[in-house]
Amino acid sequence: MTKPIHDLVRPHLVDIKTYDPIDPPDVLAKRAGVPEEKIVKLNGNENPYGGSPKVAEALANAPIHVYPDPLQRNVRAALAAHTGFDQSNIIAGAGSDELIDLLLRLFISPGDTVLDCDPTFGMYGFCARVAGADIKLVPRDDAFEIDMPAVKEAIDEHTKIMFVSSPNNPTGNLISEADVRELLETGPVVVVDEAYHEFARETMAGLVAEYENLVVLRTLSKWAGLAGLRIGYGFMGARLVDHVIDIKPPYNVSVAAEAALLASLADSDVLLAQVDRLIDDQKRLFAELEKLPGLKPWPSRANFILCQVEDGRAGKVYEGLARRGIFVRKFGHERLKDCFRVSIGTPEQNDAFLTALAELV
Ligand SMILES: Cc1ncc(COP(=O)(O)O)c(C=O)c1O
Repeated sequence: MTKPIHDLVRPHLVDIKTYDPIDPPDVLAKRAGVPEEKIVKLNGNENPYGGSPKVAEALANAPIHVYPDPLQRNVRAALAAHTGFDQSNIIAGAGSDELIDLLLRLFISPGDTVLDCDPTFGMYGFCARVAGADIKLVPRDDAFEIDMPAVKEAIDEHTKIMFVSSPNNPTGNLISEADVRELLETGPVVVVDEAYHEFARETMAGLVAEYENLVVLRTLSKWAGLAGLRIGYGFMGARLVDHVIDIKPPYNVSVAAEAALLASLADSDVLLAQVDRLIDDQKRLFAELEKLPGLKPWPSRANFILCQVEDGRAGKVYEGLARRGIFVRKFGHERLKDCFRVSIGTPEQNDAFLTALAELV
């Protein structure tokens, strides 16, 4: 008699709390009963302009029949040239998501703790749960700033790694260098996730030379419009890079992702000019949201804005927007139950969102 399959699954994974992902446009369109080309997708912090036109050409010529370079030489060299860091301090992943997962697999043994400054990006907690870590949530303060005394209080000999999204997804605020240094001095690995760096233009990457326990993550999903190709990278000490290389799937960055990264970095002036436009549009959208009664937009340094609506109305607003084919991000988190997050779209998408929202709040 064979056992039921869940008896064979590792016990902590049988009923794991999953990540709450976003659906693709065709699924959203079907749900809303709206043609796919009419969907206004503002729920994934994606780049509404798409990637560089040079990417399509690079993909057409990519040698897709050969395995990619396990040591990512071209990718790391191009990232080194683009960022000014040494390639021995850089490693790439299939999205920064993969690097989050790899870091947890590298550092977590049974009984170890991951510290999360809550609310924040859900992948940290999800990957920590998969890795079998205990998770300590330290609530952010009323302004969603990190509660430094509480974080330091929560750190003990079991704390292996902590995650700080800066700007924080979904609240949009940054951590200061003084606070990062204070966290680094406590000992555990500190991962500063700079997925929105090109929008915020502040970085802790310079501290990698000083602290072996610092990792800084970046991605091409947002500013370079490559979310669908899955390519992110991290800065860290060379010894830690080697440990990540030791455990990563050898061919984790595909030939297509490599070609797209190289083409995007070669076209970074154009892409960053687009980011400038998105930052301007973010400011305009924020100013308009501030005018709406019953709604509080939270200041943000990223390509999204967290919007808080009056008690109990967030669900209705979300549904009303969705019925009009406009998709924003809602959250299962108790502290965010009155909130949704809207990504910055094209001016036309932002206008469509604002017009619909004004009818709903
Ligand atoms: C803070 C943060 N980190 C990482 C990611 C994931 O990026 P990637 O697409 O590179 O996996 C996201 C995506 O939304 C994010 O918001």
